[in-house]
Amino acid sequence: MKQHTLLMPLDMHLHLRDGLMLENIGSLSAYSFSGALIMPNLVPPVSTKEELIAYKERIKHAIGVEAADEDEFDDIGEFCDDGGFEPYMTLFYQNYDENFLADVAEELTAIKLYPAGITTNSEGGVKNFDIEEMRPTLEAMARMDIPLCVHGETDGFVMDREAEFMNIYDELATNFPDLKIIMEHITTKAAVDMLDKHANLYATITVHHLLISLDDVAGGMLKPHLFCKPIAKRPEDRAVLLKIALEAHPKVMFGSDSAPHPKEAKESCGCAAGVFTAPIALQLLCDIFEKNGKLDNLQSFVSDNAQSIYGICPEFKEVTLVQEDFKVPETYKGVVPMYAGETLAWSIEDVD
Ligand code: NCD
Ligand code: ZN
Repeated sequence: MKQHTLLMPLDMHLHLRDGLMLENIGSLSAYSFSGALIMPNLVPPVSTKEELIAYKERIKHAIGVEAADEDEFDDIGEFCDDGGFEPYMTLFYQNYDENFLADVAEELTAIKLYPAGITTNSEGGVKNFDIEEMRPTLEAMARMDIPLCVHGETDGFVMDREAEFMNIYDELATNFPDLKIIMEHITTKAAVDMLDKHANLYATITVHHLLISLDDVAGGMLKPHLFCKPIAKRPEDRAVLLKIALEAHPKVMFGSDSAPHPKEAKESCGCAAGVFTAPIALQLLCDIFEKNGKLDNLQSFVSDNAQSIYGICPEFKEVTLVQEDFKVPETYKGVVPMYAGETLAWSIEDVD
């Protein structure tokens, strides 16, 4: 039976939510990933140092790795401050001033920019991309080496939104050559073409966008659990994404964009956008890479590239997967995962 071991898998785009949802789903990511970049689109969005620190604490608490009282464990040497899962925190982009950024810089890994109203809880995002208005913030971020993660969609026709956003990426990358800009969850050939145009552009790719096209969402019976932003595009787009993921292009990393919503919010008239993949992402990635004869490149895609792009050193974690059937549960505490009830070809055997 084929086996594959991944070291320190990282999910560089994750929605962990808050409250009961966080309590219900947080540990699924903490189990198989060494760390994740946590999206700030709560209600209200994470936009102060206090909110960011408090949210990180709630995450740690929810995944059962609440920082213990160090003194209590000193004698027996069992103190472990993070349980092997690091929530890499982000703030919701606003035109922050330099003093604010300097004060919060140590606590965060990136700042996430949403165009206003383009996706779940993004109403407070950027309304018009006025480069001069954004310049003080973006230049300060570049000086402090804080990456800018971007949800790159306009409010145009849904299939064209990402491609239409390319001139904004172009403008940002040109005006702020020292700013690391991460094109989040790319779905189009247009974005892949843009990636190599500027040295300071990087990208995340989800697992669902490697697997589905719009046909899977709406070509037959409507599949609400595959509906997300950005919407899955054409097979040609998926083919280009697959190519750069499989070759583990050094500017590309895995980011699940796993975005849980309660079953009722998905299976309803007015379906919420988001695909829930956190508990099956590594199994699916193993399958995709193995089928294409590229299993050796998965380590870079799922960890090493992110470590060098973000300059992070995750906690040691070793995840061993085996080519053995895994039946995906119908729900995880009221959240329906992608491929619910279906059988995957790989399962997680062991996590050390
Ligand atoms: C995300 C969510 O639900 O927070 N939804 C989604 O479809 N991906 C927001 C986002 O990343 O766009
Ligand atoms: Zn997202």
